[in-house]
Amino acid sequence: GKGAAMVTAVAYRLTDQARQIQETMAEFRLSKGQLLEVKKRMRMEIERGLKKETHKEATVKMLPTFVRSTPDGTENGDFLALDLGGTNFRVLLVKIRSGKKRTVEMHNKIYAIPIEVMQGTGEELFDHIVHCISDFLDYMGMKSARLPLGFTFSFPCHQTSLDAGILVTWTKGFKATDCEGEDVVELLREAIKRKEEFELDVVAIVNDTVGTMMTCAYEEPTCEVGLIAGTGSNACYMEELKNIEIVGGTEGRMCVNMEWGAFGDNGCLDDIRTKYDQAVDENSLNEGKQRYEKMCSGMYLGEIVRQILIDLTKRGFLFRGQISETLKTRGIFETKFLSQIESDRLALLQVRAILQQLGLDSTCDDSIIVKEVCGTVSRRAAQICGAGMAAVVDKIRENRGLDHLDITVGVDGTLYKLHPHFSRIFHQTVKELAPKCDVNFLLSEDGSGKGAALITAVGCRQRDQRSG
Ligand code: GLC
Repeated sequence: GKGAAMVTAVAYRLTDQARQIQETMAEFRLSKGQLLEVKKRMRMEIERGLKKETHKEATVKMLPTFVRSTPDGTENGDFLALDLGGTNFRVLLVKIRSGKKRTVEMHNKIYAIPIEVMQGTGEELFDHIVHCISDFLDYMGMKSARLPLGFTFSFPCHQTSLDAGILVTWTKGFKATDCEGEDVVELLREAIKRKEEFELDVVAIVNDTVGTMMTCAYEEPTCEVGLIAGTGSNACYMEELKNIEIVGGTEGRMCVNMEWGAFGDNGCLDDIRTKYDQAVDENSLNEGKQRYEKMCSGMYLGEIVRQILIDLTKRGFLFRGQISETLKTRGIFETKFLSQIESDRLALLQVRAILQQLGLDSTCDDSIIVKEVCGTVSRRAAQICGAGMAAVVDKIRENRGLDHLDITVGVDGTLYKLHPHFSRIFHQTVKELAPKCDVNFLLSEDGSGKGAALITAVGCRQRDQRSG
């Protein structure tokens, strides 16, 4: 009768809805063939970044770092380090002792960088940084010591030496004016001069990937790759100097900061980018840039999720079809929330509680869908990140003419450390896509601070050798 027809209609609507949701998710589920394709394209972009003729137009910049070797244990001294560009801005004092029992002792303080400073003028940003250093030196009672400083500055920089780096472009949430195209070491030195309170010897500018690699290499000499899977996404590795054509040289290796976040900026990933990825890009501070990073790093995963949820809500599949103010708010799903939502230990009721905290009223069905959306987005992130890494380790293997490579990757970043599934899926993908490499992953303990100090120590030693 009529009742039965209605029940059928409702059931049909539900299955049709489930089908449409699955269709939306399907765009994010990549086959092994597609992932191999991502690996292959990354490899192509690596070559374009390294070659002199193509370097200028290349999207994956493969920037030389002037770090020529990993630490050897003889590093020694007291160093200041700055860490700018990750989740927190920090100033650190790092005491490295060489000898039979090597030790590294660290003291650090976290400082906030208000949004208006991140997006104000460069002078304001660097004055703020120097203000924080001043506070830290007071706090440690060290104003009068002229310490060597390593500056971990986690943005793309064109380096011509260890202590010179021209900012190519801001990434992540930064947008201070008058910095792009400038040497950030000079900007820091000028700000220190303006303050007229203390002197420092800026020895090295360091990308966080390089700091991470160096920190892990201090413990484990087979570590020749660094990875950050955090707010941003990037990797570095020891490349043969002869392949880094813009530096030139025949012998030895140099660490290259890949800046792989920009992979895809020439359109080479367009076939796997979804309309949600495009929406995230259009909504960002740097439209058209860092497209790979926007698919696989902590700062953007929540944004992809949010775009999908908005779409599913508009289509009437979620939140009773009501788009709340919360859902319209940029950045609500931070890595820590995604990590909680995807935790296997969490009951659905707790997922609803988290959504409630964020200001989203959900039904039980809603929470199931939200959890699945999060899982699908973070799985793709881990997989494409793994495809990138597979390209890197295979490149190193080929560089060395080996059939089989054993190598260690030093890793840091909130996404890698906090997310309940990212690291596992990432490892699995590297293994599947680079079967000729045995890759060991080592978590870095405070890579940005320790690594900057280690590089500074090496830099001081090289300088002393040159001058005398
Ligand atoms: C962004 C930066 C890069 C950094 C990465 C991780 O991709 O451009 O320099 O290494 O974030 O923090």
